[in-house]
Amino acid sequence: MRLAEQAAPMPLAPDARALLEVKGLKVRYGPIEALHGIDFAVAKGQLVALVGANGAGKTTLLRVLSGVHRQSEGTIGFDGTDISRLAPHRRVALGICQAPEGRQVFGPMSVEDNIRLGAYRRQSADLNERIDQAYVLFPVLKEKRKLSAGTLSGGQQQMLAIARALMGEPKLLLLDEPSLGLAPLLAAEILRVVDRLRQQGITILLVEQNARAALAIADFGYVMETGRIVKAGTGPELLQSEDVKRAYLGM
Ligand SMILES: Nc1ncnc2c1ncn2[C@@H]1O[C@H](COP(=O)(O)OP(=O)(O)O)[C@@H](O)[C@H]1O
Ligand SMILES: [Mg+2]
Repeated sequence: MRLAEQAAPMPLAPDARALLEVKGLKVRYGPIEALHGIDFAVAKGQLVALVGANGAGKTTLLRVLSGVHRQSEGTIGFDGTDISRLAPHRRVALGICQAPEGRQVFGPMSVEDNIRLGAYRRQSADLNERIDQAYVLFPVLKEKRKLSAGTLSGGQQQMLAIARALMGEPKLLLLDEPSLGLAPLLAAEILRVVDRLRQQGITILLVEQNARAALAIADFGYVMETGRIVKAGTGPELLQSEDVKRAYLGM
């Protein structure tokens, strides 16, 4: 049974201090509607997981949040401002930073220059300090800082993409399947770092197909199916829910 067959009221994240609040979001690709009216919220300081199968619409949702694709209906509120019509760079300036799906590091450039790129809109005063903080999170990037990014393994490139996003001093960090394609141990390491970033006070929206691992570290989670959010709850609630187990956890 698919979760969408259950008509349950959709709770929002319990904490009323929403940093991000999305209402009635509909998104089209030409004639095809990909998101059919999405409502959700991310409370300040929380790690919120958005899980769902391939093709559910997770990347589309992130693209609309970062402003590279425009919704056809609905509103996006961020930190008390309606950002529904803001250009992508204005959203970055407000603190919405994304590490894109598929990493997209600049292969010929050095690891450290890739990290610096993330700080293009910042004053350089504390730049070196921020780079050092990234190296504390990802010591392997420090070891390899002078090598070209193209020589890094997939997991290291994912770390680099996150380190670069952190240079923008995100208030909200959007992560699109950071564990995709990684061996289990590396995937677990990446998600441990995501957990640590939350502990440092960064609000995070984590998109994952790896529902079990994402919900295990999430304060709150949403399950997406074919362009709709079909279930919401705390990480433990969703992990213990019989139908989430059946549909997404292989139990
Ligand atoms: N550029 C695009 N043009 C047309 N359809 C698209 C495009 N990108 C995604 N889609 C469709 O939108 C739906 C959601 O895709 P996507 O957001 O990538 O899902 P997910 O990230 O959950 O795998 C899918 O049916 C996909 O085929
Ligand atoms: Mg995707």
